[in-house]
Amino acid sequence: MSALRIALLGYGTVGNGVYKTIQTHQEKLKRILGNDVKIVAILVKNIEKHLAPDSDVLLTDDFKEIITLDKLDVVIDAIVGKEPSFSYLQQAINKGCHVITANKEMFAHHGAELKQLAKEQGVTLGFEATVAGGIPIIQNLRQLLNVNNIQKVQGILNGTSNFILTKMREDGCSFETALKVAQENGYAEADPTNDIEGYDAFYKAMILSELAFGEKPDWEESIRIGIKPITPEQIKLFTSFGYRFKHIASIEKTAAGIIFSVKPVLVNETHPFYQIEGVQNAVSIDGDIVGNISLQGPGAGMFPTASAIIEDLVYINKYSFSPTFLDEQNGLGLKLSSTYWAI
Ligand code: NDP
Ligand code: HSE
Repeated sequence: MSALRIALLGYGTVGNGVYKTIQTHQEKLKRILGNDVKIVAILVKNIEKHLAPDSDVLLTDDFKEIITLDKLDVVIDAIVGKEPSFSYLQQAINKGCHVITANKEMFAHHGAELKQLAKEQGVTLGFEATVAGGIPIIQNLRQLLNVNNIQKVQGILNGTSNFILTKMREDGCSFETALKVAQENGYAEADPTNDIEGYDAFYKAMILSELAFGEKPDWEESIRIGIKPITPEQIKLFTSFGYRFKHIASIEKTAAGIIFSVKPVLVNETHPFYQIEGVQNAVSIDGDIVGNISLQGPGAGMFPTASAIIEDLVYINKYSFSPTFLDEQNGLGLKLSSTYWAI
């Protein structure tokens, strides 16, 4: 049987994690998917910085070389920013490829268009890695909470911010020192502005809003405050009163519309997010039937993010093959037959 052929866009923290995980979990993937899984091409920006991990992998800085490959089943997007990621994924979907993205900035802006296009083309779109790193929050909302009316979603959605706040409190270090460690660990974005000014959590909360409520609030009127203004002195003071700063995204559906905010909040030990420390993220969902569900786990980094992407690979296999699971609302794809997806 032919291998499942994947192109990887981006070979930084996330791209490397995906490549390594596919190598280390080849046997398991083969058992689940019924095929070998092969990264056939990798796209980078600065080709002189890189070496192809294998002699038969096409390493290129030219997307045309990838999109014109003869056989391509899946495109995994682990590059940065709205463009060229959006255009590349449109081209991939139009070519009939399934796509998986980790790029929340792009997906918060263009997710609805990509879902629609994927639906029209009969391919499947995975975006688990766009929110909360390794926590399977997207799949929970997409697949497991369909009948519940979701009333509220709250979360710590930026691993870098939570890591910085924890480190400043525990070590008494400066903001800059804590940020540097977050960058060294691969948690922060290449340009950390989005992390520390709250844009990253804002994008993730917008993605959750669309999934949970089928709509996003007005971006201009939505509150977004990052952790940058918080000083070591404030942290010390509030710690002595028993409070911790947590950067919390909150989205609530009300009769008057969606109430949305992303901002630092002081919580005491009775708050469910008080113990969420370091790079951990947490998400709390209120559904009208189930009540409250909370999930927590690593919110950033090479392997937690690779985990989300690899699980998406299994998800698209399952949903591309079986019409039973077609989900109109979320725009999941439907592919009734495929050489590469048959089990
Ligand atoms: P890195 O900066 O480590 O890597 C980005 C990679 O993308 C690099 O290989 C870079 O090429 C390549 N790239 C960037 N722009 C282009 C372009 N225009 N054309 C071709 N290649 C390009 O970022 P991360 O791996 O940390 O993040 C990748 C994506 O995943 C981002 O969208 C991020 O928001 C998201 N994400 C990151 C997480 C994390 O924990 N780091 C977690 C979840 C999502 P080159 O190396 O040549 O410069
Ligand atoms: N920079 C992001 C964070 C990566 O720190 O949460 C995970 O999306």
